[in-house]
Amino acid sequence: MKLDFTYENPTKIYFGRTAMDGLKTELAKYGKTIMLAYGKGAIKKIGVYDQVLDICKSLGKTVVELSGVMPNPTYEKVMEGCRLVKENNVDLILAVGGGSVIDCAKAISVSTYCEGDAWQRYFTNFEPVDNKLVAVASILTMAGTGSEMNSGAVITNEDLKIKMGRVFDANVNPRFSILNPEYTFSVSKYQMLSGIFDMMSHLMEAYFAGDDNGTSSYIIEGLLRSIIDSTRVAVVNPEDYEARSNLMWCSSLAMNPLAGLGKAQDWEVHMIEHQLGAYTDCAHGMGLAAISIPYYRYVSQFGLDKFVRFAREVWHINEEGMTKEQLAKAGIDALEQFIKESGMVTRLRDLNATEEMLPLIANSTLLMGGYKQMTTQEILDILKKAY
Ligand code: NZQ
Ligand code: ZN
Repeated sequence: MKLDFTYENPTKIYFGRTAMDGLKTELAKYGKTIMLAYGKGAIKKIGVYDQVLDICKSLGKTVVELSGVMPNPTYEKVMEGCRLVKENNVDLILAVGGGSVIDCAKAISVSTYCEGDAWQRYFTNFEPVDNKLVAVASILTMAGTGSEMNSGAVITNEDLKIKMGRVFDANVNPRFSILNPEYTFSVSKYQMLSGIFDMMSHLMEAYFAGDDNGTSSYIIEGLLRSIIDSTRVAVVNPEDYEARSNLMWCSSLAMNPLAGLGKAQDWEVHMIEHQLGAYTDCAHGMGLAAISIPYYRYVSQFGLDKFVRFAREVWHINEEGMTKEQLAKAGIDALEQFIKESGMVTRLRDLNATEEMLPLIANSTLLMGGYKQMTTQEILDILKKAY
């Protein structure tokens, strides 16, 4: 562990088939008015909406609804939520859904009482949040982002064509999160795989940087192996409780963000995907899958030893007679094979990207933590390979 860190995670987790029992206990601790934020209807189909309303009713809560939170939530939707919170003097935002709903709730939390333009102050200038926050809690229905146990929020400003992520202080974390793996049984295969690659990518972003040999890298390898094994089961049987519960907990552990502590991290793949998402509105994890293979093929030459370790420890490649370069390549080949066999997207053209968009997408934020500090031209070359 070469780097210092401070770690705080205040989110209380209720996990498993009986997790919803925790909702009554927790809601009793907050004021009368709850804002129920959710997406386009999945929570009604799986019965969670009715369950939540019943619990709120039994506690005498007033429920205000923010429905229709879209994947890749927009700043406009955040503003709609802020108005509702103010008008109704909301005490707690209960986000029920995937990362988009939870992120939207966090953005509403920081923006409602912000003086001035919250986009400018908190998502552009990255100013510290100095206003009152509205408490957020979540009921997770789709595994992937880790938003249920972190302080991150990713919001798309449609007018500016920017998808921007920010990690806030721990007081923006959900106060509690309800994680019942059964709620994820109904997620489509496409969205399940998108979430799965998202968690893998969170781990690989933290893994492929630095020359450490530390605990975080061992944690990441273990989580990646669990995700790979569970994916192979869940793709065949989406209702395998153990596989879905492993995936749900890996989602939180991959981004809470314990796994990368004490080491250098990259995050360039995410920067490229955010820009891709701003132009195509694609599923986040599928965008990451399409970008990752050409990206890692390119940067592996600058961080060869870690890619060798990846091949050995994550994919158990038989390395007999192989050079380091061949072994590193075999590890990336194994990742690519996994992406293909499970049915993830491998081409940007399958995510509504056009060739004309590529130079605009290449204009993404350039970070310095990875094995290669990228240039816009190098990113464009990678995007062309991914196209
Ligand atoms: O709208 P509904 O009806 O809820 O349907 C959703 C949505 O269409 C559906 N879904 C969710 N639970 C379901 C279900 N369908 C059937 N059964 C269920 N139980 O899934 C679709 C996608 O949901 P979404 O919340 O968009 O997916 P995800 O969890 O992947 O979130 C993606 C967003 O999170 C951001 C991404 O950029 C993207 O905007 N991220 C947030 C991060 C964080 N806060 O730390 C980190 C990530 O890197 C990521 O950037
Ligand atoms: Zn992600």
